[in-house]
Amino acid sequence: MGFKEVYASWQENPEAFWMQAAEAIDWDAKPSKALFDDNAPLYEWYKDARVNTCWNAVDRHVAAGRGDQTAIIYDSPITGVKDQITYAELQTRVASLAGALRAKGIEKGDRVIIYMPMVPQAIEAMLACARLGAIHSVVFGGFAANELAVRIDDATPKAIIAASCGLEPGRVVEYKPLLDGAVELSKHKPDFCMVLQREQHPVELDNDFYVDWHESQNGVDPAECVPVEGDHPAYILYTSGTTGAPKGVVRPTAGHLVALNWTMKNIYNVDPGDVFWAASDVGWVVGHSYICYAPLIHGNTTIVFEGKPVGTPDAGTFWRVISEHNVRCFFTAPTAFRAIKREDPKGELIKDYDISCLRGLYLAGERADPDTIHWAQDVMGVPVYDHWWQTETGYTIVGNPAGIEALPVKIGSPTVPMPGYDVQILDEAGHPMGANELGAIAIKLPLPPGTLPTLWNAEERFKKSYLNTFPGYYETGDAGMIDEDGYLYIMARTDDVINVAGHRLSTGGMEEVLAAHPDVAECAVIGVTDQLKGQLPVGFLCMNSGAGRDEAEVVAEVVKLVREKIGPVAAFKLAVVVDRLPKTRSGKILRGTMVSIADGKDYKMPATIDDPAILGEIKTALQSIGYAG
Ligand code: COA
Ligand code: AMP
Repeated sequence: MGFKEVYASWQENPEAFWMQAAEAIDWDAKPSKALFDDNAPLYEWYKDARVNTCWNAVDRHVAAGRGDQTAIIYDSPITGVKDQITYAELQTRVASLAGALRAKGIEKGDRVIIYMPMVPQAIEAMLACARLGAIHSVVFGGFAANELAVRIDDATPKAIIAASCGLEPGRVVEYKPLLDGAVELSKHKPDFCMVLQREQHPVELDNDFYVDWHESQNGVDPAECVPVEGDHPAYILYTSGTTGAPKGVVRPTAGHLVALNWTMKNIYNVDPGDVFWAASDVGWVVGHSYICYAPLIHGNTTIVFEGKPVGTPDAGTFWRVISEHNVRCFFTAPTAFRAIKREDPKGELIKDYDISCLRGLYLAGERADPDTIHWAQDVMGVPVYDHWWQTETGYTIVGNPAGIEALPVKIGSPTVPMPGYDVQILDEAGHPMGANELGAIAIKLPLPPGTLPTLWNAEERFKKSYLNTFPGYYETGDAGMIDEDGYLYIMARTDDVINVAGHRLSTGGMEEVLAAHPDVAECAVIGVTDQLKGQLPVGFLCMNSGAGRDEAEVVAEVVKLVREKIGPVAAFKLAVVVDRLPKTRSGKILRGTMVSIADGKDYKMPATIDDPAILGEIKTALQSIGYAG
């Protein structure tokens, strides 16, 4: 069957399509049907089934006689360590860790926050939670104590699983002060924190709250897999929205298993046993879906890579990992390739490696710019597939179904909607628009299995954020168009989310931090175009009259404040002091116009602007930090 037929088969009978896809999963009790729509517009999938994620990701492969296959390759250029873990070893390690968690009171439904660097134990912690039916919430290591505290208060975890440190080039990230700080700041207090000691920076576990990863496992019985209901949350992953408070995206267990498994062959074109590598971080959705769950559920070998595309030790690291570990399919963010291209524009370093094992490169997380795609294609000599998805969906909305039929690539488009997704472009009133017309990208409900059924403890916010604007549709927050061949083009966000090095960040969240500075009367944060990271945040500060402060000092203070409150991942390093912000007559800050000025783009003078002269002041301020031409 070609892709057209596959997509049509889903359109004609989604129920049959998803029940067939569900056959690939081991169920403790099979679902009687796929879609449960009695609570529309909230939908659930395979709700009456019983299933365990860890069984499907680990134990079933051992039971099928594939225990000796490598499940995880750990490659850490930052420490010089390489390791391999078979499926049988993974089963033993995860069952033992789950046993230790159970002995300390973790049960089905309890939340567990995981705050770990890119080590295989991060995957083991996720799987140990899944084994017990506990709901994990992984927090990216580049977030500060305050962000961790916000997540602790929202998820109210019984436990935290952490490591003693993370490793950034030239810098040890000490986790203990961050954990201490977060637990002090949070209202909710977890019962305990299990710490994996790393030899690069062991810490003293100086009170009963902290327990040792290995010691906790001494003498405990390994835990078996606990079957859970199909709609049981597998995990919560926080992501940025318009305001500072992150949204807790809920991932339902059964749909997650079925959908991720389906993508491995049909989109990534790998077979069980093939090596699959997603160079991301377990703290992001790409890491959840394609470092941890999908490759393991599908019986692939996954790579946990602790390093950067450049500097660990050089821009040839990716090529080394691909050739050394026989990688079939590689997935990363375009920013990583921009970093490599900047260091090694001619692609000289790839000549030292044989990467003929590779069949395709997949890019996501941010817009894939044509230059980067061309460069990657030329240097690597493999097809480059852009694909578009979100934390909320957990897997491809629009992509190229290479495992069914590789569709012609149109550079600038992530290609076409996958089965399960009826993607439409709507105008402000919610009417479908014609080919090549720009509008809001929306997806007709129901969303397919595995996508978010709601936000954690925030059903109203879920409806407000995604369902209310266009009744009957999910609002993606992206704007774009669909051409006459059905190819989608993503043009911009419709909200205040920016994308920095493939990381989704809220300018609203940064504004909240700036506004809390005692000398700042008013502020705005915008995302300006950056050659390497796609976008970078820039802050505009209006100082309190009479503050009498040195402007450079205040700028340095707010930069430090964002790093302390949100974390280094915000990459907030640029801010300027201005007298006034451009606003509409009703007082709305004209952020979009400021972005156009920063990027040196033509813009239309907003008809509702209060005082056009301010735009000149904004331009001068931006020029002082190297933007606006
Ligand atoms: N723990 C602690 N700090 C972290 C961190 C982590 N896990 N990850 C990043 N940081 C820090 C970095 O050290 C840096 O700090 P600095 O301000 O002291 O330099 C800051 O956060 C910004 O990090 P990053 O955006 O990664 O920038 P960089 O300059 O270190 O590297 C790239 C640039 C392009 C090489 C890098 O962003 C990259 O590899 N991106 C890949 C993108 C990706 O995997 N996206 C995931 C979605 S697919
Ligand atoms: P995240 O939830 O962090 O994965 O971020 C999702 C957002 O990143 C999307 O809503 C888009 O704005 C952007 N994004 C992800 N993939 C792509 C892509 N392939 N092309 C353009 N934008 C993308």
